[in-house]
Amino acid sequence: MSMKKSVRKAVIAGNWKMNKNRKEAKALIDELKPLVADAKCDVVICVPYTNLETALSLTENTNIKVGAENCHWAESGAFTGEISAPMLSEMGVEYVIIGHSERRQYFGETDITVNKRVRAALNAGLKVILCVGELLEQREQGITEEIVSMQTKIDLAGVNAEELKNIIIAYEPVWAIGTGKTATSDQADEVNGYIRSVVAKLYGEAAAEALTIQYGGSMNAKNADELLTKVHVDGGLIGGASLKAPDFAAIVSAASK
Ligand code: PGA
Repeated sequence: MSMKKSVRKAVIAGNWKMNKNRKEAKALIDELKPLVADAKCDVVICVPYTNLETALSLTENTNIKVGAENCHWAESGAFTGEISAPMLSEMGVEYVIIGHSERRQYFGETDITVNKRVRAALNAGLKVILCVGELLEQREQGITEEIVSMQTKIDLAGVNAEELKNIIIAYEPVWAIGTGKTATSDQADEVNGYIRSVVAKLYGEAAAEALTIQYGGSMNAKNADELLTKVHVDGGLIGGASLKAPDFAAIVSAASK
């Protein structure tokens, strides 16, 4: 496959997970705003539902976009505790993370339910950050490609080429998340490139070349530069380091080069 990194916009997205009350969220966003104002990449913060309103109002007229961390597949109904995609888009939320490994690991998320959520999010006009990635055991068994291929195919089932333009894939090896154990830049590039080849088989070369594929898993201010120079690494999904404005801003700067 040809190497056309330049056709893709880098996207740096923070994944706050279950962190920050409203007061803390306000402080973090206020600190972040000036630090990323000149970014040449897209900047997204995905925050807990309880911080969406705060994040949306504080980022008005800035270059920071706001995302949620999950959504349900139904538009409304008897699903106590859930939030629907239309509820998010009506607020002005632009992005949603779907299929994060923590959802898969702790909340029974499967590729079937990930696919349903992806389709609901697209139908509501949201941009999706779809997470895929292998467990350590699976990497050791030599089945990383099979796992990410299966996830990509099932999670994108029924998504058409036009809708794919609203998808970002985040490759997040589960063993690298929150562990301080980053994939090497070659490992990240290799799997991201492999995911791109799977997408090329499904949607054609041009669509695959245009797809933003992030790396996620202990990306930080120190290792971002090296990861982001790789041809298939078009940005990052950042957990821990997104909770500190200077660290997140340093990653945004690395992606702006
Ligand atoms: P981490 O999390 O950067 O803390 O490893 C990444 C993620 O889970 O999206």
